[in-house]
Amino acid sequence: MSARRTLIAGNWKMNMLSADAKALAGGLAEKLNVAGDANFEMLVCPPAILIPVVADAISGSAMQLGSQDNHMNEKGAHTGDTAAAQVKDAGCGYAIVGHSERRTDHGESDETVKAKAASAQANGLTAVICIGETEAERDAGKTLDVNGSQIAGSVPDGSTAANTVIAYEPVWAIGTGRTPTTDEVQEVHAFIRAELAKKIGQDEADKTRILYGGSMNPGNAKDLLALADVDGGLIGGASLKVDDFWAVAESA
Ligand code: 13P
Repeated sequence: MSARRTLIAGNWKMNMLSADAKALAGGLAEKLNVAGDANFEMLVCPPAILIPVVADAISGSAMQLGSQDNHMNEKGAHTGDTAAAQVKDAGCGYAIVGHSERRTDHGESDETVKAKAASAQANGLTAVICIGETEAERDAGKTLDVNGSQIAGSVPDGSTAANTVIAYEPVWAIGTGRTPTTDEVQEVHAFIRAELAKKIGQDEADKTRILYGGSMNPGNAKDLLALADVDGGLIGGASLKVDDFWAVAESA
């Protein structure tokens, strides 16, 4: 049994209005309360504008709260952006950074992602650093190379297991209903942990949670979460309904 506590994280992306957000977060918080000492931790990451609504809905529960992004700078003239200190101030403990949709939509490089992760960590947040290969990269046999170089480039020096979570999300598996085989997922996760060890030391790498993301759902979660180096999930579509997300968590 691994010492790493399973983390079941929901990335709501750009979905939900306040009433739905309140109902979803409140419904999950209620289930967590009833479950009591669950063998997993649960995290929801709503759009920034809904963080206060969700913070209110989960207050008093064990549900944890995260953002989907933060700026790399502390504050200042960055219209439309959110600082890590603001994320923390709003009640979050986690910040997703470097999601492939941000790498694509906003041209974020490894260097940008690393700076965002460093700002999250400096403000007392745990950075959930996302990496993953595209389909073309997988087809070209470059999966390990790509993920290795994203770990090297996106994880701040001095990161620890306490302030860092890695999310392996093959870009081609996001929202497609397709996933790598369990052998492929385990191979990449073990590789990521080895690359992480080069960067932050074996001890910290052994304690760091590595989540799988990409079409995780109630039907495949059990097999994925049972893998030796899979320490939880980062879930998109299946995190938008109380019953689906709870079913994924219960597979842990
Ligand atoms: P889906 O679970 O919808 O494939 O999304 C995964 C994801 O991108 C989570 O960050």
